[in-house]
Amino acid sequence: MEAPIPNIPTHADNAVVWHGEHLYLLDQRILPLQTEFIRLNTGVEVANAIRDMVVRGAPAIGITAAFGVVIAARNGWESAERDWKAAMAADLAALAASRPTAVNLFWALARMQRLMDELGDEDPTPRLLAEAQAIHKEDIAANRTLGDLGAALIAEPAAVITHCNAGALATGGYGTALGVIRSAFAAGKIQQVYADETRPWLQGSRLTAWELQQDNIPVTLLIDGAAASLMAQGGIGWVIVGSDRIAANGDVANKIGTYGLAVAAKHHGVKVMVAAPTSTIDISVASGADIPIESRAAAEVLYCGGKQLGAPGVDAWNPVFDVTPASMVDAIVTERGVVLRPNTEKIAKLMAG
Ligand code: MRU
Repeated sequence: MEAPIPNIPTHADNAVVWHGEHLYLLDQRILPLQTEFIRLNTGVEVANAIRDMVVRGAPAIGITAAFGVVIAARNGWESAERDWKAAMAADLAALAASRPTAVNLFWALARMQRLMDELGDEDPTPRLLAEAQAIHKEDIAANRTLGDLGAALIAEPAAVITHCNAGALATGGYGTALGVIRSAFAAGKIQQVYADETRPWLQGSRLTAWELQQDNIPVTLLIDGAAASLMAQGGIGWVIVGSDRIAANGDVANKIGTYGLAVAAKHHGVKVMVAAPTSTIDISVASGADIPIESRAAAEVLYCGGKQLGAPGVDAWNPVFDVTPASMVDAIVTERGVVLRPNTEKIAKLMAG
């Protein structure tokens, strides 16, 4: 009989948890009204959890995939000993195919693969687990650093708008965009956070609002279409968002609607900040046009909360991410430093450093 799910405290910082010998994910599909952890027993189960949005957000996807490699290798060692690498090949393929846009997934898999290449006929579990735990820990540290760097850019107290969820739930902890917001709020620079609802998965209303409420940061929800009107009223200092992949020229892929938000921000003189660890920067893609954009089922748009609301027989276009051109971004904030008005040269310098 399977061991019961342990009593892990329900907090946004505990979205991805290695406890005892197992990986647990806080099921983000049912937050905030239900809080349940799921245990993952195989690499394919981990891949399915990423694909099905149990865990989401670029850095959290990467961390989860790294733990998925640990589980796959452990199972491979238990079933095939010396042939553990061959035994886990299908799990690795499933992990790599789980979601296409967040480059943190491929970054984490490549880092785990480099270590696997060094390992021979010994049990790979302890070293791979240490590496996955290091990836997790480094992400939290990066978020704290970039959070403070981003907060320092906010000159005077203002209200801000964020889109989707780039918080603790989407990362190892603390968050990227919400990391900046947490640090800036602690420094007295945030008067109010407006969270876009973020159709169709409602990451803004279900996740961001819940996370900020847990930390007593004042948050007001907006339907996505209300952001431009809010900017027109004045008082919004910054749009602060995360990213799934930043191209070599500074173009930013993020949740669908980010581009529209940036267009509105430029029109209203509101600044745009993108907060992301350097594991989100992919210098192998020259521009945003080369970033693969995930497309998901039309049903996600036509249904809401499991209920069909769209007209029967109507199709829906459901791209999951869009690309905001670098020219619309005032600052990319990473743990290695801030890039103002990003371009290819500045991104190359950041990554070389
Ligand atoms: O589809 P999702 O929920 O995985 O999309 C998440 C986002 O777009 C986030 O803004 C991005 O991954 C940055 S998370 C720190």
